[in-house]
Amino acid sequence: MLCYSGRFQRESEPDVFITFEGIEGAGKTLQIALSEAHLKKRGIPCLTTREPGGTDFGMALRPILLGTDGCRREPVCELLLYLADRYQHLKEVIEPALERNVVVLSDRYQDATRAYQGAARGIAETKVENLRSLVGITEPDKTILLDLDPEEGLPRALERNEACPAAGAEGRFEAEDLSFHRRVREAYLKLAARYPERIHVVDASGTPDAVFSRIAPLIDAWTSAARLL
Ligand code: TYD
Repeated sequence: MLCYSGRFQRESEPDVFITFEGIEGAGKTLQIALSEAHLKKRGIPCLTTREPGGTDFGMALRPILLGTDGCRREPVCELLLYLADRYQHLKEVIEPALERNVVVLSDRYQDATRAYQGAARGIAETKVENLRSLVGITEPDKTILLDLDPEEGLPRALERNEACPAAGAEGRFEAEDLSFHRRVREAYLKLAARYPERIHVVDASGTPDAVFSRIAPLIDAWTSAARLL
């Protein structure tokens, strides 16, 4: 697997490109904010970014990808747009940050495509993987999978969308039924079993502080060498 930390010529190489994944309402955004604050407190430069929408191009794609306008999108069209968003993100934001030795924390990345467009929308895994490698999308160094039962996460996400009309207008995936979100969760757990070195499953139930206490030791271990950079 092509990973970014291979660039660093050090005895203990930092894991610099970290992605966060999980079902709707798993609490990724808050946990990423806590992780960024934690790293900065330790003097480790880091950048938080997200998909879709980590670039201006991606922001223009967001309403197409997430809009609740009822407009039909073939699953393969959706897949191609997520890959376009990701490639732009990789070239414009992620790779330049890694070149500057900045730790990158990304709210979703390629595993989301595997889980949502692959497993949940039903696009064959080989098609997803072939397109990924054709486009040239590399893997992150480490991934935190915030695992939560959709029966707990989905109502949280719907509540958030009700409280914030802008988020509600982007609620295309939250509008999918529970079985869709169960397929997403199962797919993420299968990916974690397949890539145990990279993907770390974190129980996302409990208070934000309790969840972060499970994440902090992982981030510390992965980035400890980044202090030397
Ligand atoms: P967003 O509003 O950014 O919120 P969150 O990530 O906190 O849920 O929604 C992004 C949505 O896009 C989310 O429902 C999952 C979906 N998605 C995919 O279907 N495939 C992908 O490759 C990515 C990156 C996201």
